[in-house]
Amino acid sequence: MEKTVFAIESSCDDTSVALIKGRFDQNILKEICILDYHNITKESVHIPYGGVIPEIAAREHASLIAEVGNAILKSFPQEPIHSIAVCYGSGLLGSLLVGIAYAQGLALSKDIPLNAIDHIDSHLAPGLFLPEEFSLSKDLHQWIPIKTPEFPALTLTISGGHTFLGYKTSLDHWELLGHSVDDACGEAFDKVAKLLGLAYPGGPKIESLAKDYQPEALILPIPKVTDRPTYFSFSGLKTAAKKLVDSQISDQKIAWHFQEASFKHIYQVLDHAIHSSTLPFKEIVIAGGVAKNQRLRDIMKELDLPIRFAPFDLCTDNGIMVGLQSFLKYRDGWNFKPYARRPV
Ligand code: KG4
Ligand code: ZN
Repeated sequence: MEKTVFAIESSCDDTSVALIKGRFDQNILKEICILDYHNITKESVHIPYGGVIPEIAAREHASLIAEVGNAILKSFPQEPIHSIAVCYGSGLLGSLLVGIAYAQGLALSKDIPLNAIDHIDSHLAPGLFLPEEFSLSKDLHQWIPIKTPEFPALTLTISGGHTFLGYKTSLDHWELLGHSVDDACGEAFDKVAKLLGLAYPGGPKIESLAKDYQPEALILPIPKVTDRPTYFSFSGLKTAAKKLVDSQISDQKIAWHFQEASFKHIYQVLDHAIHSSTLPFKEIVIAGGVAKNQRLRDIMKELDLPIRFAPFDLCTDNGIMVGLQSFLKYRDGWNFKPYARRPV
């Protein structure tokens, strides 16, 4: 049985749409084929302000989404669409509303069920379903066999808005173990990059600045959240980095030490979670924008468990992850009951 989903992601500054076909065997997803995918990142619009300006992001989505989405739909006139999946939160309210309004309009006019997808859940979906080697340049339009992790699996979502540690006992059940008590990891990277005069988004720029620095003993403390060892904290590290900036230490050295201390912190939290839990974790799954970072990948591979990362191309916000997450909710069809899950 094959089912096709049209997926929309507009929670921040990426206007992203994907048309994905899934092959099921008794309601279990076995293979997927990404028929088409468009992602427009308007980073350049936000660079002069040093970060995403919500009002501008919403206006950009409004000017792009129908054009980009309708172009995909027109390219596949014969394709039956069984569900429209749209990210409904978390994210920037104005940006989300543009994607949701477009999705609702399509769903109503074409009488297709609408599937509301949680942003944080969807970040993990490429890591849960796809092989790490998946890449947009070679795997678009190909049937890709689904490769799910062994459960229970420890899961980490690290992005510009969230640092969430949890575990999954099955594909559709997860529990929260901890999160950042202050800045998200990517947010701290963006803020330290700004201190160093680097353009938004700062994470990749810190990574490339730190890349050729000769490793040395850490001069920054590795954070620890007192009494809550499965939680994260990055704002102290950010302040410590600011002090280094004020003391004229080279940008490259600051980038290296900040990145190193951040990732050692994440390593120590996961190490604690693995060794203190009564659950026999079998695998770790890591996703979200910061999971693109190669140094993070190298450090996390030292943990005592097999580890899988979301494919590099699907770590930052994208419509494919929204479509994949909606396949996870398939049960003889998509029967949605809208209900409030978060206070507005
Ligand atoms: O998941 P994402 O696209 O958006 C949110 O949901 O927040 O993640 C964006 C974040 C930004 O903070 C960006 O600086 C960070 O991911 N990021 C990185 C790297 N690539 C993106 N951080 C560190 N190293 C990278 N290579
Ligand atoms: Zn995101």
